[in-house]
Amino acid sequence: MNYTKCWLDYKPIPENLRRPCYYEPVLLASGRVAETAAEEYCISMSEMLDEPVEMRRGEPVDEPAVYLEVEEELQTAETDAALDRQTFVIRGEEDNIIITGKSEEALLQGVFAFTRMVYLGEIDEKLPFFCTPSTPLRMMDHWDDMDGSIERGYSGRSFFYDDYEMMYNERIEMYARLMASIGTNAITINNVNVHEKETFLITDVYLQQVKQYAELFARYGIRLYTSVNFAAPMQLGGLTVCDPLDPDVVAWWEKTVKHVYEVIPEFGGFLVKADSEGRPGPFTYGRTHADGANMLARALAPYGGTLVWRCFVYNCGQDWRDRQTDRARAAYDHFMELDGKFDDNVILQIKNGPMDFQVREPVSPLFGGLKKTNMMLEVQIAQEYTGQQIDLCYLIPMWKEVLAFDIGGDGTAVSHVVCGIAGVINTGDDENWTGNDLAAANLYGFGRLAMDQTLSAEQIANEWSRLSLSREDDVTDTVVPMLCGSWATYEKYNAPLGIGWMVTPHTHYGPDIDGYEYDRWGTYHRADLHGIGVDRTGVGTGYVEQYNEPWRSRYADQATCPEELLLFFHYIPYTYELKTGKTLIQHIYDTHFEGVEEVEAMKKQWEGLEGKISERSFACVKDRFARQLENAKEWRDRVNTYFYRKSGIDDEKGRTIYK
Ligand code: GCU
Repeated sequence: MNYTKCWLDYKPIPENLRRPCYYEPVLLASGRVAETAAEEYCISMSEMLDEPVEMRRGEPVDEPAVYLEVEEELQTAETDAALDRQTFVIRGEEDNIIITGKSEEALLQGVFAFTRMVYLGEIDEKLPFFCTPSTPLRMMDHWDDMDGSIERGYSGRSFFYDDYEMMYNERIEMYARLMASIGTNAITINNVNVHEKETFLITDVYLQQVKQYAELFARYGIRLYTSVNFAAPMQLGGLTVCDPLDPDVVAWWEKTVKHVYEVIPEFGGFLVKADSEGRPGPFTYGRTHADGANMLARALAPYGGTLVWRCFVYNCGQDWRDRQTDRARAAYDHFMELDGKFDDNVILQIKNGPMDFQVREPVSPLFGGLKKTNMMLEVQIAQEYTGQQIDLCYLIPMWKEVLAFDIGGDGTAVSHVVCGIAGVINTGDDENWTGNDLAAANLYGFGRLAMDQTLSAEQIANEWSRLSLSREDDVTDTVVPMLCGSWATYEKYNAPLGIGWMVTPHTHYGPDIDGYEYDRWGTYHRADLHGIGVDRTGVGTGYVEQYNEPWRSRYADQATCPEELLLFFHYIPYTYELKTGKTLIQHIYDTHFEGVEEVEAMKKQWEGLEGKISERSFACVKDRFARQLENAKEWRDRVNTYFYRKSGIDDEKGRTIYK
């Protein structure tokens, strides 16, 4: 096993999966990305056929062959121009196979899809295969800092930066291959919290190195973005303000962006976190986020650049005594009144839920509110609040729920209203990229889901497991259910019924029930001796009003509120009877005992895989499960004890609760 190749670590395939045409590829297209497609074909097929495969060029051949083509005129039913360009087709024609893309980038995606299907033995069943990606923009957001650390990184240090230098090496090339192979077409290379040195990324201090990355990415059909500091004109330009309506500020950005494009013509654009958690922004000058975003977007527009502006804007200096201010409301309250005021090349990046990547949150109501603004969904592949790549938590089922959620209340799903998906990436310089080998399923799955939202979480887990661990059924039969059930298990031993948080402050791993309860971050559970939960109905914080019907009414009523979100929307007495017939307190006890039991079961199942997968993967995950079990027990006991002490109510089943 070659750890660094992850799901691209192809092995020789059995004779019955080989076809004569595979040995004779012919490239009938030209261009930088078409060349990458040819190269990728040869690398992967040489590994699978266990002999060197070479690309021919230019002319059709007499023997059976695989043709790689670009056909701009290819007919599709797609009306979105960006998506249309990304369409590819793989079809059989007599003994030949034709991989055709409407663009070179689409051809490259066609080749990755083809090699995967060959390896998985799916060619007969899947051809002809048509693919138009589910969403045009599929972005990875790195939270890497230039000192080499990664904010919320759980897999080692950055492989982009070390001690304020940008690195260039084979790992970065492998990274580009991996990203392209799952359909990524945009990468933001630095943290949304742009510190002092990172502010220089868009200047000559670093632009040549950024260009090297941009050119590498471009060969794989990926555009490079940087996060920028809204106060850069002050820090770098010596201006006294960064007011978006100030002509000097506007001119500074125009000049800076012009130079970026002189050096890097294929530069993608900027990602901005403004007026959030201490970052500078337009509020300082009494300007709106539309003023701020449009100013930057206008500097990028002449070069075709895109401005991605985050909606993670809230008051992080709250007083726990204040029950009116509700952090959940913040994004909607700030951005709804700006609907229609953003330029065409602005995209608002909205976190999946109104809080912050908790194990369970309702879908952000902003997706159902904004009608005249480009939006993209932001999810966190890095498991900040979901086990930090120690605990297993396969997140594809969660993201599928979010994308499919009928946010319009009229059949309009989140997936219908977004033009892209961004994932805060979970990679680092650990040899296996993601710390826990199984956490790579989230990375792979994010890409595959963004490409094809019709795939189920099981299908994605199955593909990943067969590509990365073993093609043997007994491995897949163990790993797939384990992955697919892991979010539910994690949720069981975590904060109950959508209330969230209860984590150790700052690190966000492990339980601390009151850790944030009296803090300034606006993340309260409000537990007392009678019950727990936040009243977000009309008589509470009014957050429910931000939803379209039927959600507004459904969430507002305890009887119709989905129970997994009950404590997010309501303050509920411990003796309240849930639909299962259990009281709330008994539900809390039961789920926490079950959560630990399920982790024990997973650990055991994994141990049964010894000898069936690579030793390193086996050992890595075994160790993670041992740590997960400790964590789950800590959660169980702290949560159960906490609620026993608050409520004084015994566990009906008389299990051990430390008193
Ligand atoms: C979370 C996370 C921060 C991050 C922030 C963001 O709050 O803990 O590290 O900066 O999200 O998304 O901007």
